[in-house]
Amino acid sequence: MNATINLENKHFPVLLNELISIISPLYGGTFIDCTFGQGGYSKKILENKKNSIIALDRDNDVLNYASKFKVKYKSRFNFYNNKFSQINKIIPKDKKIKGIIFDLGYSLNQIKNPQKGLSFSNKGKLNMKMGINDLSANEVISNMGEHNLIKVFKVFGDEKYSKKITREIIKKRKEKTIKVEDLVEIIDSVKKYQKTKIHNSTKVFQALRILVNNEITELINGLIFSFRLIPIGGIIAVVTFHSIEDKIVKFFFKHYSEQRNTSRYLPEAEVSEKCFKVVNKKPIVPSIYEIKQNPPSRSAKLRYGIKTRDNCDFSDFRQKFKNLIEVEGLR
Ligand SMILES: C[S@@+](CC[C@H](N)C(=O)[O-])C[C@H]1O[C@@H](n2cnc3c(N)ncnc32)[C@H](O)[C@@H]1O
Repeated sequence: MNATINLENKHFPVLLNELISIISPLYGGTFIDCTFGQGGYSKKILENKKNSIIALDRDNDVLNYASKFKVKYKSRFNFYNNKFSQINKIIPKDKKIKGIIFDLGYSLNQIKNPQKGLSFSNKGKLNMKMGINDLSANEVISNMGEHNLIKVFKVFGDEKYSKKITREIIKKRKEKTIKVEDLVEIIDSVKKYQKTKIHNSTKVFQALRILVNNEITELINGLIFSFRLIPIGGIIAVVTFHSIEDKIVKFFFKHYSEQRNTSRYLPEAEVSEKCFKVVNKKPIVPSIYEIKQNPPSRSAKLRYGIKTRDNCDFSDFRQKFKNLIEVEGLR
């Protein structure tokens, strides 16, 4: 989650300078900002008059910011209130795109909005919908079967106490609708107020957010469709905030930037070319200075790749994360 608490509710774009130096918007072109938020990245790119932005965000609360951008940047800025997994349906294939950027996670506005119920620090109805969702956290907690709920907490939250927490949820939901504060209380009671570095509720809330927002499928589809949209030489850059997201993004760039022989019967000459050039093998992380200014940026990781061939077979990408996709399908 790349947000920090400040009086103006202003979202600090994470790794902004690093991202800008990678995508080199100085030379001019069209960029896609898949996670517009408050437009921190878009604004920086649009400072150069030769650039234009196609922005997407699934949360229609950002329309406010998008409309202001439209007034200021006119035809250089276009916004779609949609999910980035739909990018292939929104953007024409013949559009010359220089780079596509993703800043995963949640904005400060979303985290602080009690109606969204994303944070364990708020009180009220469990919701967790970022926007354009078919399911809420309340529906999951109220209706999901024991076995599936345990799986969700284990796989998406790596929660050691998944079983015990689930049993308590099932007991409690027979008495009343479980709200944010009730879920926090249940988790605290199971974990007996253990004093660890992370809040007792972090893992369960992370698991629910991933499930409710279909984050795994969104990311995998968003990456594949992005690859198909950019020409050779185009860049995809992604900022992640939790280890599951980073595992997916790391695999995407690492696996498809290796020279692979798709069949052992193929002669050497037919070994398939790499799909990406990856310059930084290690992720780019925020400086100590940035972390001091904006503590939640500490978990951010930036990875990117430059497209090097036209077609790429991504069938083993979905296969690799089959387990996660299956758990997301339990909804
Ligand atoms: C961390 S914020 C982006 C902040 C932005 N870079 C800035 O500087 O203001 C992430 C944004 O991505 C949006 N988002 C998350 N998943 C999405 C998806 N699958 N499709 C479209 N937007 C998504 C969220 O609604 C949120 O507004």
